[in-house]
Amino acid sequence: MATPHINAEKGDFAPAVLMPGDPRRAQAIAELLMPDARLVNDVRGMLGFTGTVNGKPLSVMGSGMGQASATIYATELFEQFGVERIIRVGTAGGIAPQVKVGDVIVAVGAHTDSAMNSLRIPGVHYSAVASFNLARAAVEAFEANAELSAAAKVHVGTIISRDHFYFTPEGQTERLAAYGTLGVEMEAASLYATAAQFGREALAVLTVSDHLLDHSGDMTAQERQTRFQDALALAVAAAHC
Ligand code: HPA
Repeated sequence: MATPHINAEKGDFAPAVLMPGDPRRAQAIAELLMPDARLVNDVRGMLGFTGTVNGKPLSVMGSGMGQASATIYATELFEQFGVERIIRVGTAGGIAPQVKVGDVIVAVGAHTDSAMNSLRIPGVHYSAVASFNLARAAVEAFEANAELSAAAKVHVGTIISRDHFYFTPEGQTERLAAYGTLGVEMEAASLYATAAQFGREALAVLTVSDHLLDHSGDMTAQERQTRFQDALALAVAAAHC
C-alpha cells in the first residue's frame, strides 16, 4: 500500500515516529537505538526504519527540510500508516538570550511566517501547539534523569518555524526574542497543525546548534553528538509515554 512518497506496507510503521530532518540522521538514530531496525522507506532517499527500543516498537524517518516537505510525510504517516505520534528531533537556532548553544528546547508552541497554517481555517491565525502529553513526558524524562539534567539545560516554550533559512525581515528576530521566543527551525508549526488535522500527537525536541543573536558559544563535534543524544533520550521518552 505505497503512497506517493512512502513505499511501505500498512503495519510497517510503529505508532510512534521520531522525525529528524536529515534521512542520514534517521539512519544513524535507528542504528544507535535499534539493533533490530529494518528499512521501511527509501523513496527519494527519505530513509525510514522500524525496530524496537526496550521491547516497544519505534520508527524513525527523515522529514526533509521545511514545512512543505515535513507536512507531506506527516500527512501520509498519519492518514495512511496509522501513525499516532510524531516527535521531531532536530536542531534550532537560538533566539532568546537565556538559550545557549547545546541546550535543548521542548517546543510547546510554534509561531510561523508560513502560509501553510493560515490556509487551513480561513480567517484564522492558527495556534500551532504541541501535544501536552508528549511535552510533559519529555520534560519529566529530563527531570528524572540526574545525569542528563546535570549536563544539559532544557527550555520549554515557543519557537518560530520559518520558511526562509537565508532571509529574515529586519528586526524580526529581536522582536521574537522580546516575546520570549526560544529559537527558530523550519518544520514544527505545520507538523503540529497536521497532527491536529488527524487528531494525533506531535512534539519537537530541538538541540540548539547556533545562536542568531549571540555568537559567543559554539559546540565541538563531540559536544554536538552528546547533546543530540540528550535530546534523543527525551524524544524516546515522549514516543513511548
Ligand atoms: N534557521 C532555521 N533553522 C535552523 C537554524 C536557523 O538559523 N539553525 C538551526 N536550524
